[in-house]
Amino acid sequence: MASSSDSDSQSKETILSRHRTAAEEVVSDHTQLYIGGEWQDAASGETFDTLDPTTGEVLASVPRGRAEDVDRAIEAAWDTYEREWSETTTSERQAVLLEIADRVEAHSEELAKLETLDNGKTLMEARIDMNTTAEQFRYFAGVVESDRGQTEDGDGYHGKVIHEPYGVVGQIIPWNFPLAMASWKLAPALAAGNCSVIKPAEQTPLSLLRLMELVDDVVPDGVVNVVTGYGEEAGAPLSKHEGVRKIAFTGSTVVGKQIMRNAADNVTDVTLELGGKSPIVVHEDADPQAAVETIAFAIFANTGECCEAGSRLFVHEDVADDVLEGLIGAAEGMTVGDPLDEATDLGPKVSHEQVERTTNYLESAREGGAEFLAGGEPPEDEALEDGCFVAPTLVEGLDHEHEAVQEEIFGPVLEVFRWEDYDEMMTLANDVDYGLAGGVITNDIEKADRTAHDIEAGYIWVNTWHEMSPGLPYGGYKQSGIGRELSVDTLDHYTQTKSIKYGLH
Ligand code: NAI
Ligand code: MG
Repeated sequence: MASSSDSDSQSKETILSRHRTAAEEVVSDHTQLYIGGEWQDAASGETFDTLDPTTGEVLASVPRGRAEDVDRAIEAAWDTYEREWSETTTSERQAVLLEIADRVEAHSEELAKLETLDNGKTLMEARIDMNTTAEQFRYFAGVVESDRGQTEDGDGYHGKVIHEPYGVVGQIIPWNFPLAMASWKLAPALAAGNCSVIKPAEQTPLSLLRLMELVDDVVPDGVVNVVTGYGEEAGAPLSKHEGVRKIAFTGSTVVGKQIMRNAADNVTDVTLELGGKSPIVVHEDADPQAAVETIAFAIFANTGECCEAGSRLFVHEDVADDVLEGLIGAAEGMTVGDPLDEATDLGPKVSHEQVERTTNYLESAREGGAEFLAGGEPPEDEALEDGCFVAPTLVEGLDHEHEAVQEEIFGPVLEVFRWEDYDEMMTLANDVDYGLAGGVITNDIEKADRTAHDIEAGYIWVNTWHEMSPGLPYGGYKQSGIGRELSVDTLDHYTQTKSIKYGLH
């Protein structure tokens, strides 16, 4: 790992003052609940702090929302839905979505900086998130215009199929792509004609609150209601509420299961985007250098805090030594440090809890006989001691049954397996509870196609990773989730289908 403190731009004092200045610049005063278009405190008056994971300093206090705040938000959402939003045409909603996209774009640098402060991702990664966010609103603005329903003419009848919004939907967002994940959920929900009560993650509430401030005059009051708070206190009441007709969640599989159980009481429709432990399969013909670039990106992007991260590498024995040598160089060459510094490759994790989770898995891997090809220890750099930093890590020699291989680590940790027999390798590649994504690296189209079909997952990359395009549905097999985002299918998840049959007697 490249040491960062030898450069002035990464000294402890510089990092601290850079972050304090940025926070003064971009953290807004409006860090409250946003309900019915108004900034409000929690009914209890309680707040909690959101921290900057690079410095450990407090960025802002936000209301600690609970069930009664969720009730209030749901009431405001229904009120707007019935009074106003359910009467809107698709073109009116399209105009709102396009204006949201324009505002995001006009403020993208400010929003990116805020995201970097609250989450720890590098500024470059945060900028990509802002592009994604604007793109989501534009994509669903287009898609909704093409959703015209259908007519059926049968023997002696005429029929019509229409898609109606649910009314009020609940949306629970994770901290790894705070604003981008909110846009994945808000854009289709609003396009389809729903009002939303949305809960950002407690670690990263600021970008969504700032977005609502920026679009306050664009989005009618009560269409989007933001309740900040903890999962158990604000998220659980939202998923149990009988006023919520559909709940959408991205986060851990454990919580996804709880949400499904909660939703069962009201037979609320659920879509879930959960964890992953995605395999990267490298065939014997792969160009090692190109493979290294794709693999490093697959596991280290966003500090490994990606549900779709490629976290299990299955590399063919013929190219394994070259690929691993390249990967060790890539891991050790990364600059770990201040995510606001453009020279940084790997920012901190989002929180100390997340660092502990990763280090516990590394400890367990060590006890399980793992060999660390790179990383495995916290970065030795005083400038980073108050932040949530972990080093890019490569692990070999673990049994595939080991918990560090089976479970999602959500950090920059890649587990390596060598293979010669394709069928044996594929059995292992599929031997996890997850099935979110996977990938194959080869120049042979037949191998690419075979492996893409053989991996049990909802999204497969060939010679690339992470890139997602609106129009290609995204979602998991097995315990990685239910439903698809980023596509026309998503609108179906935010509407209910009604058939109307006319007798022609
Ligand atoms: P989490 O699943 O607890 O958090 C995600 C969201 O769910 C947050 O907004 C949280 O407040 C909310 N939440 C938590 N408990 C809830 C409940 N009982 N009812 C309703 N909402 C609830 O994830 P956490 O604990 O922050 O991270 C643990 C692990 O989960 C990570 O290490 C990672 O493996 C996985 N994860 C996966 C994500 C993905 O993109 N698929 C995103 C975040 C975490
Ligand atoms: Mg934070």
